[in-house]
Amino acid sequence: MAAQLMPGAPVAEAVFADLEPRIKALDRPPGLATILVGDDPASAGYIRQKQTKAAELGLYSAHEHLPADASQADLLAVVKAFNDDDAVDAMLIQHPIPKHLDYEAALLQVDPDKDADGLHPMNLGRLVLSIPGPVPCTPAGIEALLAHYEVPVAGSNVVIVGRGFTLGRPLALILSQKRPTANAAVTVVHTGVPDWPEYTRRADILIVAAGVPSIVTPEHVRPGAVVVNGGLNYEGRRIVPDVDESVAEVAGWITPRVGGVGVTTVAMLMRNAVEAAERRQGR
Ligand SMILES: NC(=O)c1ccc[n+]([C@@H]2O[C@H](COP(=O)([O-])OP(=O)(O)OC[C@H]3O[C@@H](n4cnc5c(N)ncnc54)[C@H](OP(=O)(O)O)[C@@H]3O)[C@@H](O)[C@H]2O)c1
Repeated sequence: MAAQLMPGAPVAEAVFADLEPRIKALDRPPGLATILVGDDPASAGYIRQKQTKAAELGLYSAHEHLPADASQADLLAVVKAFNDDDAVDAMLIQHPIPKHLDYEAALLQVDPDKDADGLHPMNLGRLVLSIPGPVPCTPAGIEALLAHYEVPVAGSNVVIVGRGFTLGRPLALILSQKRPTANAAVTVVHTGVPDWPEYTRRADILIVAAGVPSIVTPEHVRPGAVVVNGGLNYEGRRIVPDVDESVAEVAGWITPRVGGVGVTTVAMLMRNAVEAAERRQGR
């Protein structure tokens, strides 16, 4: 029997419905700035999605598109300008950036209170300490997705494939926190664990964030498990997820090939931007 689908759209709609009155209650629209370096079509597409949603919600958008050969100094100058701009409450640098640039060094220059992605070391530190602050968007969206579909996470055996700093690693922190929508036993596997299928086959909830097309196939999944695909890969214009489509034949619940965690990621970005504005306006 095919798995039940867990689309991200209803989760995102619930987040937007919560944000709308909060946006209206502010003295001025929350400002979200985006920085794109280079001409990667996937990155440009992600930025367009974020700007479109920001406009629909009535946010003020600022954008800087730097050429692929921009210098680190050019990038830092844009970050500084957005740090100093009172109309900007939150900003993001679209990741990845060209290889000659240092993403982490640029991220360190972002005002942590304007960190829309929740990836500044100050905010990752807040996450470790369970102090409120901007939380990384994709992992926060996965927690919201599981909560929305009433997946029992607390006490469950969660396995995450991948320890990348935007997804797998912060997700492990989030899902092991002590609250009803988390509180799980979390295992993270990666290339240092060659027998990772031994772990994934025992997972109640399997979350895949490796960035390897179809790395997870039915034999890696416990029948009836909840499977969340976080990995997106492009073969030409076609999106190939980390979770092979055939996994739907064994899983109990699964995210769709498109319209899963990408949608909830944008919702969490909007939430981080609105909360940054609320903080800056003393709400
Ligand atoms: N939907 C969204 O909004 C969103 C947001 C962020 C990321 N993503 C997607 O999520 C994926 C991961 O992103 P990331 O930034 O976390 O990437 P990353 O930093 O490259 O991390 C990938 C992780 O997967 C592990 N891995 C790779 N190949 C493996 C293999 N064959 N066996 C076991 N583990 C393997 C790596 O292990 P090692 O650490 O040992 O190298 C690493 O920990 C990408 O496809 C990305 O596009 C999606």
